[in-house]
Amino acid sequence: MNWMVLVVVVVVVFILIEVQGQQSYVDNKQLDCYNHYNTTDGYVCNGVESSCLSYLTFRSIPPYYYSPTSIAYLLGSEPTRIAAANNISDVQPISADTLILVPVNCSCSSSYYQHNASYVLKSGDTYLIVANNTYQGLTTCQALMAQNPFPAINLTVGLTLQVPLRCACPTANQTAAGVKFLLSYLVASGDDPPTIAQRFGLDLPTLLQANRLSSNDIIYPFTQLLLPLTSKPTPAQLQQRSSPPPPPPPSAAPPPNSNNNSKINKPIFVGVGVGAACLLLLVITVFLLLHRRRRQHYQSAAATESPNSKPQVASGPGLEPGKIADYLPTSPLPSSDTISSRGLGYAVESLTLYELEQLQRATQFFSEANRIQGSVFRGSFEGDDAAIKVVIGDVSQSGDEINLLKRINHSNIIRLSGFCVHQGHTYLVYEYAPSGSLSHCLHSPTTLSWKQRVQIAHDVADALNYLHNFTHPPCIHNNLKTSNILLDASLRAKLSNFGLARPLLVSHGHNHNQDQLQLTRHVVGTHGYMPPEYIQNGVITPKLDVFAFGVVLLELLSGREAAAAATPAPSSNNGGSGDDQELLLSASIRGVLEGDHVRDKLEGFMDPSLKREYPLDLAFSMAQLAKSCVATQINSRPTMAEALITLSKILSSTLDWDPSDADELQHSTTSLSLGR
Ligand SMILES: *[C@@H]1O[C@H](CO)[C@@H](O)[C@H](O)[C@H]1NC(C)=O
Ligand SMILES: *[C@@H]1O[C@H](CO)[C@@H](O)[C@H](O)[C@H]1NC(C)=O
Ligand SMILES: *[C@@H]1O[C@H](CO)[C@@H](O)[C@H](O)[C@H]1NC(C)=O
Ligand SMILES: *[C@@H]1O[C@H](CO)[C@@H](O)[C@H](O)[C@H]1NC(C)=O
Ligand SMILES: *[C@@H]1O[C@H](CO)[C@@H](O)[C@H](O)[C@H]1NC(C)=O
Ligand SMILES: *[C@@H]1O[C@H](CO)[C@@H](O)[C@H](O)[C@H]1NC(C)=O
Ligand SMILES: *[C@@H]1O[C@H](CO)[C@@H](O)[C@H](O)[C@H]1NC(C)=O
Repeated sequence: MNWMVLVVVVVVVFILIEVQGQQSYVDNKQLDCYNHYNTTDGYVCNGVESSCLSYLTFRSIPPYYYSPTSIAYLLGSEPTRIAAANNISDVQPISADTLILVPVNCSCSSSYYQHNASYVLKSGDTYLIVANNTYQGLTTCQALMAQNPFPAINLTVGLTLQVPLRCACPTANQTAAGVKFLLSYLVASGDDPPTIAQRFGLDLPTLLQANRLSSNDIIYPFTQLLLPLTSKPTPAQLQQRSSPPPPPPPSAAPPPNSNNNSKINKPIFVGVGVGAACLLLLVITVFLLLHRRRRQHYQSAAATESPNSKPQVASGPGLEPGKIADYLPTSPLPSSDTISSRGLGYAVESLTLYELEQLQRATQFFSEANRIQGSVFRGSFEGDDAAIKVVIGDVSQSGDEINLLKRINHSNIIRLSGFCVHQGHTYLVYEYAPSGSLSHCLHSPTTLSWKQRVQIAHDVADALNYLHNFTHPPCIHNNLKTSNILLDASLRAKLSNFGLARPLLVSHGHNHNQDQLQLTRHVVGTHGYMPPEYIQNGVITPKLDVFAFGVVLLELLSGREAAAAATPAPSSNNGGSGDDQELLLSASIRGVLEGDHVRDKLEGFMDPSLKREYPLDLAFSMAQLAKSCVATQINSRPTMAEALITLSKILSSTLDWDPSDADELQHSTTSLSLGR
């Protein structure tokens, strides 16, 4: 096979240069994730001490890692230590692309020196992306794979990885020469060993020897050099740059190229380096494609994943399979088109037709003990739990819910697995959501954390966006409320109760949805979730769901009910039946976000059971989104797609946020976004 030949070529290209020295330079092999090299798992434990203070370097990237607090969280250090090492305050935002010193305790575990950090996977992450893009080369994909139990194809959002950051302690020879610390310097494009040595006051041979480099070797961006230092590094040494680095291209297809760089005095080695990196990229691509192919296979067999979830493995920057496959001479690999059409085929599932006896057995004859709520019962089919809803009348032919759900396969929409019609009643069998409804969870003693709430909001937005934009015909849920949002065992949301859902009639001429107004005279819904145009005129548009979604966001933020009876004044003696007696959440948010003292008012509005363990700036963003969703004017409300984009940003910042830093983050970020 082609790729085996390539691997052989690559191995031949990389013959190790044996130089007497301390630790071996990684030599860009960190990009070849599916092969192990001596150098990629870590720096070997060859020092005098088995643990020591060492320094990492990290380049700030606003808006994610731009303050001592956020960088400390990513790298498992402490904000105060980072602040002190860089002579800045620990909440001070750092400007983009500044190299920061990060002091860490480095210790020997099994045979490598390392500093442990942990990282929660985000969407699109692969081992290579985490190692190269997020950690900037402070770890390698090989080391990540060696120390985490998850196969590369099993990486899913939310998993926590253990991240071994490369560091080292001085060897006996270095200690004898007065070396106290080894600094893990991140190579940037434009760097070469002589300039780095000069900047840190080292002789070139010492620097080269510390990394087992010879003077002919080249160094690559997103790798580290160990700098043997006799005294603590200073921020000034890091900031001295001979030339500003070119901004990293967001998705550079070719490997980091250095042709705009006049510093490197041995162009022939740059050429070899780029060529080798290309080969490596090709090898990685071929591996990824093979894996992706296998994964597609696995997906069609499993048939549970939502059709719009992206394959995670092949989404690395610069690794666009279609493009690179074009460069392969006679490639038998599938084009990306065939992959995607094959991937969508499995979505449609047929429903099981149950016998009443099966349902009776599963629910112990619809016993009280099995009743979840109302006419919904828990059933157990040979150990698999399901929820069974009893509906009066035979709705199997006309029922929108069955017609709609049987066509839908989305991980955030409750799955209908089958039904039964018996003596005029319909029994609908759904997947079971063990954690119950969101309204139940919000008002129970075991409260949801900030992260869980944001994830739920994102899940619901994802489901609604899917209904509005990706089903044929598009449809409106029309009954969104927290009691219709169910939670599975890991507290991920599943939209349920599609009894009032209705297809959106779209004419064939590609008309805009709003052009065709749907009206109903039969206004049904839950008080507090219905937008004014629906209550007053029966207007049905997707913005009806957007309004209700805004109310759900407000409940997630505040823990309050969508509509609550106002505490009656003691003197008041009217029966408390008027509408004016009710507090609507959708109305209260305007008062919170308008006028003065927004920060105090928002803190007062937030759910007290969160115990202030949330980043106020993100809560503010979510409250603003909620406020726009519940706008009185239809056109002022965002579309569900827009709301989902905003929530994705909030979710990704939330995943980076550490509850234990709650206070510091609040101080650092509220001054930026809430400066009123
Ligand atoms: C350490 O120093 C001694 C004497 O200078 C030398 O013989 C030896 O090779 C050095 N060891 C390493 C690993 O550099
Ligand atoms: C890998 O390391 C071992 C032991 O340190 C050494 O014997 C071997 O030669 C190294 N292999 C390569 C390819 O450098
Ligand atoms: C730290 O920064 C302050 C002002 O920002 C400066 O006065 C002081 O000299 C700096 N200290 C060191 C050790 O660089
Ligand atoms: C790092 O080492 C220092 C000194 O040994 C110790 O005080 C500190 O608690 C350690 N920090 C961590 C996070 O282990
Ligand atoms: C880091 O992780 C490794 C592997 O799990 C473990 O053996 C080691 O004890 C950890 N080191 C520290 C300092 O926690
Ligand atoms: C490594 O990360 C940088 C910065 O995000 C990116 O520009 C570069 O393309 C990445 N390299 C690879 C091989 O993915
Ligand atoms: C990978 O994921 C599949 C499906 O979730 C699971 O069955 C398998 O055990 C996982 N493999 C490992 C090694 O965790």
